[in-house]
Amino acid sequence: MTSAAPSATRDAARAALRELVGRADADFHDGQYEAIEALVEGRRRALVVQRTGWGKSAVYFVATLLLRREGAGPTVLVSPLLALMRDQIAAAERAGVRAVAINSTNAHEWTDVLARLDRDEVDVLLVSPERLNNPAFREQQLPALVRRIGMLVVDEAHCISDWGTTSVPTTDACET
Ligand SMILES: Nc1ncnc2c1ncn2[C@@H]1O[C@H](COP(=O)(O)OP(=O)(O)OP(=O)(O)O)[C@@H](O)[C@H]1O
Ligand SMILES: [Mg+2]
Repeated sequence: MTSAAPSATRDAARAALRELVGRADADFHDGQYEAIEALVEGRRRALVVQRTGWGKSAVYFVATLLLRREGAGPTVLVSPLLALMRDQIAAAERAGVRAVAINSTNAHEWTDVLARLDRDEVDVLLVSPERLNNPAFREQQLPALVRRIGMLVVDEAHCISDWGTTSVPTTDACET
């Protein structure tokens, strides 16, 4: 299995994981690096189905860090649970991932968020499914974003059936 072999990507991913979890002795859970490798080295899609707390979010934060270092555009993270993600965003910030949200509660910040995106100062843009399906967002902001997007993540993908008729573009990383 290639993932067992030493590689610069694996070392960089482990270092990023340790920053993210805040433990110098942390190592990948079974399957975590394989998902990161598929996304970063293979530029492939990954469907990650694991239990709560296994480290699914860590997969896309670490993959984002590595992809951004290679010059990729920002990750767009669609999640129905943005309000519950504050701690994760804070942890990601400590690991050097600059994450910002666009949702119905922070409309006053969108101009600033879009300006930061324009200056390439955002690594992860968190978007609620409702925002993704909002006609103004889809027409005015989404096209420019899609042109530069490095990775699309659908978090809590088991909730997609609750999103009604929302149609979601290509899924690169998807966790449930
Ligand atoms: N390989 C690892 N070693 C040690 N700690 C880890 C590892 N991966 C993730 N963690 C830590 O475990 C906790 C849960 O990780 P994470 O939020 O990525 O899990 P999750 O699978 O996305 O959970 P949820 O299903 O609740 O969304 C976090 O505190 C994270 O820092
Ligand atoms: Mg998670």
